[in-house]
Amino acid sequence: MDVLVVDHPLAQSRLTAMRDARTDSASFRAALHELTTMLVYEAARAFPAERYPVQTPVSLTDGTRLANPPLLVPVLRAGLGMADSALALLPESSMGFVGLARDEATYEPRAYMESLPRDLSGRPVLVLDPMLATGGSLEHCCRILADRGCTDITVVCALAAPAGVERLERSGLPLRLVTASIDEGLNEHKFIVPGLGDAGDRQFGGM
Ligand code: PRP
Repeated sequence: MDVLVVDHPLAQSRLTAMRDARTDSASFRAALHELTTMLVYEAARAFPAERYPVQTPVSLTDGTRLANPPLLVPVLRAGLGMADSALALLPESSMGFVGLARDEATYEPRAYMESLPRDLSGRPVLVLDPMLATGGSLEHCCRILADRGCTDITVVCALAAPAGVERLERSGLPLRLVTASIDEGLNEHKFIVPGLGDAGDRQFGGM
């Protein structure tokens, strides 16, 4: 699996704001919004482009556009905070949704929502979730996509734990990962350390 860690000082400064326990919800959402822009920008470097003719006010020239804009799939809830900025960079994209909640006892994901095109063959997909912890949620989401025929998945997350990266690697799914950090590990509650807490709660409040 290809793993890209976006070690850019602007990306790292947004991630630091998200990590800081004093950052309030509004500032956390703003930092995630900006970080997502940078991560999606880097993820899109690998997207195939095509040339097409464009008439400038002066002459005819060759323009560039994405050959096949990806389907964006934010993982609810926390991935919702990444959806707007990804769509702003990829305005030709459409969006599907997967709702997953991690069980607090087993740490395994429970799916509660799936709104996706039936056939994803030939369609690249960009999955958006701020956190890859055990990897259970993102593996589950990517299996749903693969079951619909998807063979080209890019997972974009703000930060990851090594265990989650390894789980995705072992899954054998056709994916690559773009993240701003691979942190030290997981604590006994399967929270990323040092991490940023719970990205859903930090954006939207506790349930
Ligand atoms: C968080 C996070 C990921 C998942 C990561 O979501 O946004 O989806 O946990 O954990 P994992 O890699 O161990 O599966 P959560 O289940 O807390 O739901 P939320 O987005 O509604 O807060």
